[in-house]
Amino acid sequence: MTGSARAQQYCPPFDQLDALERLRVGASASTGPALAIDDDVRRAAQRDGLEIVDPEGVPIARFSPEQIGDEGPTGTPEWLGNGSPRPYERLYLSPAQVRATATEETLTVVVDRRLNRNDITEIRNISTGRPVLLLVLCGPTMSPYTRGVNLLRRSLEVAKGLTDARVVAVPLDPRIAATDPELQDEVVSAYAPGAVAWLGTHTTRLPGTRTMDRTGESGGLVLFFTGLSGSGKSTVARAVREAILEEDGRPVSILDGDVVRRHLSAGLTFSPEDRETNIRRIGWVAAEIAYHGGAAICSPIAPYDSTRKAVRAMATDRGGDFVLIHVSTPVEECARRDRKGLYAKAQAGEIKDFTGVSAPYEAPTDADLDLDTSSISIDEARDRVLDLLRERGHLADPTQPEWTI
Ligand code: ADX
Repeated sequence: MTGSARAQQYCPPFDQLDALERLRVGASASTGPALAIDDDVRRAAQRDGLEIVDPEGVPIARFSPEQIGDEGPTGTPEWLGNGSPRPYERLYLSPAQVRATATEETLTVVVDRRLNRNDITEIRNISTGRPVLLLVLCGPTMSPYTRGVNLLRRSLEVAKGLTDARVVAVPLDPRIAATDPELQDEVVSAYAPGAVAWLGTHTTRLPGTRTMDRTGESGGLVLFFTGLSGSGKSTVARAVREAILEEDGRPVSILDGDVVRRHLSAGLTFSPEDRETNIRRIGWVAAEIAYHGGAAICSPIAPYDSTRKAVRAMATDRGGDFVLIHVSTPVEECARRDRKGLYAKAQAGEIKDFTGVSAPYEAPTDADLDLDTSSISIDEARDRVLDLLRERGHLADPTQPEWTI
């Protein structure tokens, strides 16, 4: 017999765990693309079956050996129990539970980003006294990156301000929903007892083109300056920090290249590997600051495109907004300034692997702003950054009244 004790155990990635959960609660009819398992795991599963566990090792489902095809497991597994509880577990109702307790009159509002002031006014206007169901797409639900938790907390807060509204959590990542409208429609119609409304631009958006709320759910910010040594990164960063502190009062931390190397990254060299480690550390700390709603201003050289992209992902995964500024002051100007005398030493061969002289700098192609401090003043550079931050909702707009919910 193929006892469960022998079944091959497998913990799928977060999106696949959500897909299984949707299948279990009856929110969709398939797990989407087959669970991607390695060949070794698949061969063992074809012999002994496959037991799916959550990240804490709690068994969730079992596929029999016959269900394991060459592409991976297929069909509906045997359900073994609920996974480990998530924050707001009580809000994860099945579609059947929702429909059993809601009337057809209920207006379902699909929440796939943080609700803002305009959304709330719009919900009030279109619901015209009907009960409202805030259906929150809050995956990946088992991820430690609590993007979904913030969405749920905000939605609960908003629901309190409406006359008759409730919140239901759906194990679907809004980013996946945005690129797979069929899946999104299948899941939403499974839950919705009646009419469905979408936030903002839903009706005009093309599949796959939608971007997430730009300021991120946490409201936090990673402002990342990259450029050569002596390009003016630290000077502009400092000016921006002062302006944010004066205008807004929100907490700001600066993670400057030279300063970080004296503390967080003490002992690291300028080898490609150590530069990568240095930038990833900065990114990790900055993402954590943004997660708590703060602003982190980073100003290392960060010469590699792939590392900068990794930092962008760290920040946005934690619900922060990532803004990349390229301080593109040409190397000739940096060398002419040579405030620390390092270019002269690098050119004389006394410092090896010096960025811009004997080590590469990959100029970004994904910068939100380009500042060349050889052609604009520091004040102007600072103001351009502040304008961008205002545009992205990170600084109070002095023309707008304070928002209360
Ligand atoms: S990074 O490449 O890892 O991003 P980081 O910003 O931390 O560099 O440090 C750059 C600073 O270290 C420069 O401003 C300069 O003062 C100093 N430095 C010392 N050696 C080098 C070098 N070989 N290349 C670049 N900067 C160096």
